[in-house]
Amino acid sequence: MIQKPIFIVLDGIDGSGTTTHCNLLKGFLETKGFKVHLTQEPSNNEIGLLVRKYLKDEKIPPITDALLFAADRNLHYHGEIKEKLKEGYIVISDRYIESSIIYQSVQSELISIEWVKNINKFVGLPDLTIILDIDPKISLARKTQQDLEKFEDTSFLDKVRALYLKRAKKENYSIVNSNDIIEFVQDKIQQIVLQKLKE
Ligand code: TYD
Repeated sequence: MIQKPIFIVLDGIDGSGTTTHCNLLKGFLETKGFKVHLTQEPSNNEIGLLVRKYLKDEKIPPITDALLFAADRNLHYHGEIKEKLKEGYIVISDRYIESSIIYQSVQSELISIEWVKNINKFVGLPDLTIILDIDPKISLARKTQQDLEKFEDTSFLDKVRALYLKRAKKENYSIVNSNDIIEFVQDKIQQIVLQKLKE
């Protein structure tokens, strides 16, 4: 198969397994001979590190969060993702713009989806977005209480999940049920990605 520099995003509620599946997908594509660059958001740049710190702080205003996630993404896309795509890599990102559209609009009534799209309009969009879907009661049970960040609360994540599903339908994203054995979920993700690479 010819290497195509495509940009893939795995997204979903906290504990849906995006990190595990991004790693497995990278390994799978590498065994097929592809060059793969794996990254995540919040990213590893200084804005990303600040965002990670603020994820533990309930007092940060939601608009500040939204603007910082957008700033992190802008730097992440232009300084890293775009460059790797130019070099011919398949780029996989663990979360991207859909996380902002969903989490930040659920976080505050002041934040509309249109506004989030607007502050994020200067970055490239993924070629493929896969949403991992799971019930928050199951996903949060995988985490210990003291590790929880500010969005990791069942009633908040119920709203987040509903919006992921609604948006996935509207935007024609692939949805994979993540409440299944890892190998089975990963296999479904791989089939979707291989199909995309064939197009
Ligand atoms: P994540 O790295 O998946 O969490 P962890 O490493 O603890 O498993 O994501 C961090 C949190 O940030 C997650 O609750 C989703 C949230 N988030 C947003 O609210 N907006 C965004 O734009 C992004 C990228 C993440």
